[in-house]
Amino acid sequence: MPPRTSSAAGKSSASSGPRSARTPLAAASRGDKGNGRARRPVPSQPWLHQRAGEVQQFGTVRQFPLGLSDDARTYSCERLNQVLADSQILYALYKKHHWLMRGATFCQLHLLLDKHASEQLQLVDLVAERVQTLGGVAVGDPRHVAEITSVPRPPNGAEEVPAMLSRLLEAHETILTDAHDAAARTAEMGDDGTSDLLVSDVIRTGELHAWFLAEHLVDTPLVRAQ
Ligand SMILES: [Fe+2]
Repeated sequence: MPPRTSSAAGKSSASSGPRSARTPLAAASRGDKGNGRARRPVPSQPWLHQRAGEVQQFGTVRQFPLGLSDDARTYSCERLNQVLADSQILYALYKKHHWLMRGATFCQLHLLLDKHASEQLQLVDLVAERVQTLGGVAVGDPRHVAEITSVPRPPNGAEEVPAMLSRLLEAHETILTDAHDAAARTAEMGDDGTSDLLVSDVIRTGELHAWFLAEHLVDTPLVRAQ
């Protein structure tokens, strides 16, 4: 419901609540023009500066009628949140290295890393929404992500190009290793949907990205065969 407003000039603001009293817009919506004359209330004034406690804690699942046990859904959400945190870090690493790329193959790698970044971002959304589908809470805040991820933090500056590519490859392998195990175990728990997502999306996309990166680390002659 929108905030209740009053057109009576000079009426106490206590009835409108302490939060709305801090905002000029809310003051206007109460009809207080500040000069003793009434102003028409604004019925669509939003409630501002609202705060509340958590309605669901991270690590818990709500009851959803999916034919899956609470234990299976809780376990899947835990495994998915690990993949989700690592994939969000991988996405950020791709953008960082997309920006910091340099050298003779700058243009090609600059574009390739951005393509991988956008595809990782799509995966992030798929995995996060799978957590929500199971009744859980997806890890979203980047500071929370940083607490959970197992992908090592890079230096703040730029590394040599092969080192940046190796860092991305290693992040992929971390996620792939975890995703293979998670896919098998969630399938054992009966959560075929999560297992399918991990195999069909996370693993297949990650393997493809790793291939494209690895080929850039082959030391091959460009013009004359040795
Ligand atoms: Fe860009």
